[in-house]
Amino acid sequence: MKKNIFVANWKMNLTVAETKNLAEKLGQSLRSFKNDKTEIILCPAFTALDDLCTVLRKENPADLKIGAQDVFWEEKGAFTGEISAKMLKEVDCRYVIVGHSERRKNLGETDEMVNKKVKILLENDLVPIVCVGETFLERQKGLRDVIVARQTEAALRDVKLFGNKKIIIAYEPVWVIGTGQAVEPEDAEHSHRMIREALMENFPADVLEKHFQIIYGGSVDSKNIKDFVDRENIDGVLVGGASLKVEEFVKMIKQLA
Ligand code: PGA
Repeated sequence: MKKNIFVANWKMNLTVAETKNLAEKLGQSLRSFKNDKTEIILCPAFTALDDLCTVLRKENPADLKIGAQDVFWEEKGAFTGEISAKMLKEVDCRYVIVGHSERRKNLGETDEMVNKKVKILLENDLVPIVCVGETFLERQKGLRDVIVARQTEAALRDVKLFGNKKIIIAYEPVWVIGTGQAVEPEDAEHSHRMIREALMENFPADVLEKHFQIIYGGSVDSKNIKDFVDRENIDGVLVGGASLKVEEFVKMIKQLA
């Protein structure tokens, strides 16, 4: 049985010291908690990955995994400011968020770039967490399904899946991120079904079943998390703000048990 996914996206919020502190506290709080149903992935800033890796290599009773918030699509070379998949693997990263709406909006990340990032990650046996989702304006114009299907298909164009390779798609309606007001779980589930349908255009059912998980993100907290993960088509969550507080984080994980 597949585990529920819990991605903590710490964005540009924590220094190295703060990241270590939060990870250590989470490790302690979750120590005695039997975590066999949830894959917990911590995604700190690039600068904190190495230290987080050291902390978790020393002691990791809660089996916390490490993820990054971005990657570059080339193996290596003259790409100032970028980070490669190999560099991420060196610090025990197993997951990488790509195409987050904040990067699409602030840095002009396109579907084509997301597709190249997905490919380099898979080549390096890393798991892409591909974010898709519509803006408020797009939703108002009735374009939600079209946008979500287009972003999903474009991100996975010419992608081949075999062996143990895995892809996580995160449906995140852009307009609820960081607002404290998530969409209704039925609403999220509708988009998850649309994503599944878009995937079915390009992948057979057994590949879909084996290699994909679809999670929800956007103002998830300890009050609403269960309503999302209880839904048949929702395989986990991507959490920003609420994952920065130890108590709230632990409350959310306990509800996934
Ligand atoms: P939020 O962020 O939980 O603070 O809404 C989610 C995200 O952007 O990934």
